[in-house]
Amino acid sequence: LKKILLFADPGVDDAFAIMYALLHPELEVVGIVCDYGNVSHSAACRNTSFLLKLADRKDIPIINGSSTPLSGVAPQLFPEIHGYKGIGGLDLTDVQSLYLHPFFKIYELIEQYELDLTIVNLSRLTSLAKLFMQMGSEMQQKVKDIIIMGGAFLVPGNWTPLAEANVYGDPQAARIVASMGKNMTFVPLNISNRAIISNGMIDRLSNHTQTPFTPILEPIMDFYSKKYNEIIPGIQGAPIHDVTLLSYLTDKSPFHVIQKQVFVVTEGPAKGMTFADFRPVPEMVSNYPVNQIILNFNVEQFQNDFMKVFSG
Ligand code: BDR
Ligand code: CA
Repeated sequence: LKKILLFADPGVDDAFAIMYALLHPELEVVGIVCDYGNVSHSAACRNTSFLLKLADRKDIPIINGSSTPLSGVAPQLFPEIHGYKGIGGLDLTDVQSLYLHPFFKIYELIEQYELDLTIVNLSRLTSLAKLFMQMGSEMQQKVKDIIIMGGAFLVPGNWTPLAEANVYGDPQAARIVASMGKNMTFVPLNISNRAIISNGMIDRLSNHTQTPFTPILEPIMDFYSKKYNEIIPGIQGAPIHDVTLLSYLTDKSPFHVIQKQVFVVTEGPAKGMTFADFRPVPEMVSNYPVNQIILNFNVEQFQNDFMKVFSG
């Protein structure tokens, strides 16, 4: 089993990613760090608790992540996309959060699983940057891999014309991570925007499957895809960004990975933009790490994988 520690801000697509991870027979979720981003930190922790209770997996520790960017300013949240009272159209206002383990628990898990643990970052990069700042490069020698939902390379952003949300939401944190971590994998909007799941697919799952999550698929997807239809008129369904990372982890064959140095703009009109040198002969910046970026994948294979995992 692949052991994963998720950093998440559920949020509809994070919720799909958490469900996918819990349903996938090859993945073992050893902890979920609840952050802020799509929704507030407290809502993210509550929504995570709801999903773990539904799956009868209260044994999985929820860890108290970050509630603001490193700058300390109040984050901008997106309840109109991800839900006002819970996940999508679900009303979770009466749900109690499970016990929140202190941030320190992450170090315990890293020690416990040694080189067997993959960190999957689905939220703003604040908590991951804190780990890098506290542990330095030693951190990476202790984990197997780090996969990050973040960035937009030569394609439009989804928060500003140039910036993707997980990077724009805390650009300082993203810069720390991109400049300290090596051999990590960035999954940018280039991929995740194309990871579209249609309402028809969700209908099929709702009518023909019996997992603990079957009853909530429709209410959370309806809300989210209605909103996406306003953002991108004519879109059939909605991009389930965060699931792509887990799909990649379990089968890398549909994904095309390249090696690049990743840079983050932290100020000015291009704030939150990620860039890399795509010229035929790139110039390497010395003493700056090389990471991986996934720029292409097979959408149909991804959709089939999604349907298979959610079928239980
Ligand atoms: C990323 O930002 C969040 O809003 C989504 O959950 C995803 O992780 C997409 O830009
Ligand atoms: Ca997310």
